[in-house]
Amino acid sequence: MKLLSQLVVLTLFLTATLSEARTFEEIKKDGKFIVATEGGFPPFNFYQGPKLTGFEVEIAEALAKKMGVKIEWRALAFDALLAGLRQDRWDMVIASFGITPQRSKAVSFTDPHYCSGGVVVAKDPAVRTAQDLSGKVVAVQTGTTYLESVQKLPGVKEVKNFPKDTDARAALMSGRVDAWVTDKFVAKAALESGASAGLKLGDFVFIEQIAPAVKKGNTSLVEAINKALQEIMADGTYEAISKKYLKEDVRCR
Ligand code: ARG
Repeated sequence: MKLLSQLVVLTLFLTATLSEARTFEEIKKDGKFIVATEGGFPPFNFYQGPKLTGFEVEIAEALAKKMGVKIEWRALAFDALLAGLRQDRWDMVIASFGITPQRSKAVSFTDPHYCSGGVVVAKDPAVRTAQDLSGKVVAVQTGTTYLESVQKLPGVKEVKNFPKDTDARAALMSGRVDAWVTDKFVAKAALESGASAGLKLGDFVFIEQIAPAVKKGNTSLVEAINKALQEIMADGTYEAISKKYLKEDVRCR
């Protein structure tokens, strides 16, 4: 009995780890491109009522159009997204993931769809730079490059983690933390929305290239996405979507 259950576990493990990601040809034949995002990171990916929208949602739709496939969206917690690629639960993730050496070991990134970085947001106008975070309590979203970069700063009093970036912002609003580190455009949108009265936009803590990710080694899909990305960057589609959500063209230069 024990041996049997061990065999079952082993079989499940092997099918999960050895199963191949769908190649672009297979996705194209099926017609359905399964894309996962978070839906909690405005203006990049968020809900407008029941509707998933944002810069990354429209960019992915434009890529799919060029690739000749239809997206079936999945929305999940940020820290579940990359693991789902390994388990073949979806074909692509687009959720503002910065390209890092550590993530690159686990997934394959395509070319970046935008360049940005983490900025300091605080109520106190004297808290603007990475150095100013010394002695401060800082809120960041769990699993992000903001967490990683703030942890490396000397003298930070405490880093508080929140599964959702909007909760990190709420912690700053209610005065439970001294600063919030998030994407520059997320910070700008929050400040402009009026929902964040009294918050001040500070400087970059670091900059990063942000890209869609697919299962590690799925080269046919990486190539198809890169080709579609080049096309929408050349024909004005990218620029229009970027200006609609971010008021400027955020492609990496
Ligand atoms: N750019 C940051 C990172 O790479 C944050 C991404 C957060 N994305 C999100 N959908 N909440 O970790």
